[in-house]
Amino acid sequence: MTTLYEVHGPVALITLSNPPVNGLGYQTRASITENLQKANDDQTIKAIVITGAGKAFSGGADIKEFGTPKALQEPNLLSVILALENSSKPVVAAIHSVCMGGGLELALGCHYRIAAPGCSVALPEVKLGLLPGAGGTQRLPRVLGVEPALNMIVSGEPVKSELLAQIPGQKLFDRMASSVESLADEAFALAQAISDTRPLPLVRSLPCKHPNGDAYFQFARNMVKGMAKNFPAPLKCVDAVEAATKQKFEEGMRQERAFFVNLMWTPESRALRHIFQAERAASKIPDVPSDTPNRQINSIAVIGAGTMGGGIAMNFLNAGIPVKLLEMKQEALERGIATIRKNYESQVKKGKLKQDKYEERMGLLSTTLRYDDLTDADLVIEAVFEELGVKEKVFTELDRVMKPGAILASNTSTLDLNKIAAFTQRPQDVVGLHFFSPANIMKLLEVVRGEKTAKDVMATVMTVAKKIRKTAVVSGVCDGFIGNRMIEQYGRQGGFLLDEGCTPAQVDKAIENFGFAMGPFRMGDLAGNDIGWAIRKRRYQEKPDMKYSKTADLLCEKGRFGQKTGAGWYDYVQGKRDAIPNQEVVAMIEAHRASLGITPRQISDEEIVQRLVYALVNEAAHILEEGIASKASDIDVVYLMGYGFPVHRGGPMLYADQVGLFNVVQAMKRFARNPLDDASFWKPAPLLARLAAEGKTFN
Ligand code: 3HC
Ligand code: NAI
Repeated sequence: MTTLYEVHGPVALITLSNPPVNGLGYQTRASITENLQKANDDQTIKAIVITGAGKAFSGGADIKEFGTPKALQEPNLLSVILALENSSKPVVAAIHSVCMGGGLELALGCHYRIAAPGCSVALPEVKLGLLPGAGGTQRLPRVLGVEPALNMIVSGEPVKSELLAQIPGQKLFDRMASSVESLADEAFALAQAISDTRPLPLVRSLPCKHPNGDAYFQFARNMVKGMAKNFPAPLKCVDAVEAATKQKFEEGMRQERAFFVNLMWTPESRALRHIFQAERAASKIPDVPSDTPNRQINSIAVIGAGTMGGGIAMNFLNAGIPVKLLEMKQEALERGIATIRKNYESQVKKGKLKQDKYEERMGLLSTTLRYDDLTDADLVIEAVFEELGVKEKVFTELDRVMKPGAILASNTSTLDLNKIAAFTQRPQDVVGLHFFSPANIMKLLEVVRGEKTAKDVMATVMTVAKKIRKTAVVSGVCDGFIGNRMIEQYGRQGGFLLDEGCTPAQVDKAIENFGFAMGPFRMGDLAGNDIGWAIRKRRYQEKPDMKYSKTADLLCEKGRFGQKTGAGWYDYVQGKRDAIPNQEVVAMIEAHRASLGITPRQISDEEIVQRLVYALVNEAAHILEEGIASKASDIDVVYLMGYGFPVHRGGPMLYADQVGLFNVVQAMKRFARNPLDDASFWKPAPLLARLAAEGKTFN
């Protein structure tokens, strides 16, 4: 049963019971209306209380049902809300913990509402590329006032119940309960107190006006347009709330419904809904059951206080977990600590961190030069130089000192984790934790699963990732793991584009217009072009037949490593990040092109985007087929969280699915015929070829 029915004297209690968050799927909706009918039919019942079991009143419509016939199956949410409004006996919503989306709309259909303090209240549909589709845009302004309601609808952000209760004149909550624990009793008391009140109050009957509506909505539109950029939903939220102020309730509802249905089919909403599910799916590992016991992680050690080590340490300090930082020399420790302090101090200056919190965090940090001081740490993360010999020394020491059961992690970005694990007598305890730079800011964490990594180690680090607010994606062991392995092919294709006739600025602009946060050349300048150079030098040895453009090497030979040297593909003014095109670089590319006997051609933005994105997609298909990633959606999460792939396109895999894999393969065949490109580059990965032939998708 997805709702429970109980009788408490003259009050019927309907409890939504559809874990994890009482989503309003078909079964739950049907069950609410059945129980509502039952209460109305029972002569002894005078009033009805509706609440949610577990950790939510309700998280809203069941997102998993979207796009399936079940979402529309009667009773749909609108019908359920209508049934609540039409109940001949008063219905009281007893709201606690989480009341969102359709859950809040349901509560607004009840005659009375009582809320526990601490409840997160939101209409978050806009975050799924939608707007509230069951009356939220019409009823919330009637109980909160137009401006606070539109703020909530357009931002989708939760607001605490006790704050909402303080809005002057608000009618969202008839009463605040004194605590979650007393909510049920106080709801019963309210239900009994109003059981004879007639007519029953309906939110739809409340007035909805703004004194300066035209000016206000114009202003709201201007604000929202700037923020919404690639997403149509936020402006539709404004339109719908404006309709609430200007149209009769029924007409406003009709408009809201039309907007909702249209938005549901937009690629932007599909992308956002995909991301919502993909992020949550990423934390699940197919062969590691969700009830796998975790190891206790109460203290951390970090080896190396450089760029990554310091950032990694900050993640744990922020989560209140003590960290011991180890370095080879006192000066290195001091430098590392100074950087951590500088980062925190800048947050304090910007008002993002309170002084006492800063001190509290620094109080959790200790340092050492001796491995023997690390014995008690539950998890140690190595972030030393990227050389196998150095890693061997570190892991041999860790194997010697760490207590049994401690997890030994490496932040290596290119080395073979299985080799690192083999430096110890406990490869089952070794795992890769590949943070992205700056490690205290970037949300992505690739968790690298070695051949021998134990399942409980995997389960534990996934939990730890959540604690430090990272989105973790599991990757198997391969060169570059998921993200960097794909970016290498994207970079190669960027080089071919230069050889054929593009400038770095043209390529960057095309892919940035597509929605990437940064094009490949601006990104190279940010990360340091020397990193790619080092990788290519290795590749020239390992794979002498692999075709590369030489322009990036020529750039590095000039010492143009990027922002850190003030010059890369572009020039940089000290202290600024603006990329200024450089004529010498363009001349260098032209001279190289001429030396290859290539006559440059005009390449369209469409071709640039396709070549760069399909380069990612084809490598991703190999990664998926080899089992390096277990799901296509994991690859999307990596690219969205770590590489600035445009959110409104949902990640490379969803994008390819939406273009159609058949079309992707056709384009790749066209590129393969270009003599200046590399035919072998465009050979479709077997998985991609198969799915395209069968008319299937990655997701
Ligand atoms: N429908 C179905 N499943 C949902 C859901 C929903 N509305 N909201 C959350 N879930 C599921 C998640 O998929 C996850 O499932 P899993 O355990 O299988 O991975 C589980 O609930 C727990 O979710 P979180 O990991 O996010 O748990 P938290 O405790 O951190 O957060 C939450 C809970 C605040 C409810 C958060 O999940 C959330 O923000 N959910 C989205 C709420 C939302 O967008 N509601 C609007 C839906 S659209 C709508 O109502 C349309 C209407 O206007 C017609
Ligand atoms: P870094 O050079 O800034 O810092 C390395 C630190 O390790 C230095 O402070 C050094 O003194 C210390 N160190 C070296 N050998 C040591 C030893 N034996 N014992 C203790 N300390 C030692 O390097 P960075 O950039 O922080 O990289 C560290 C690791 O993180 C590397 O494996 C790198 O591949 C990886 N990584 C780097 C990223 C980046 O963007 N910089 C991103 C993701 C991973």
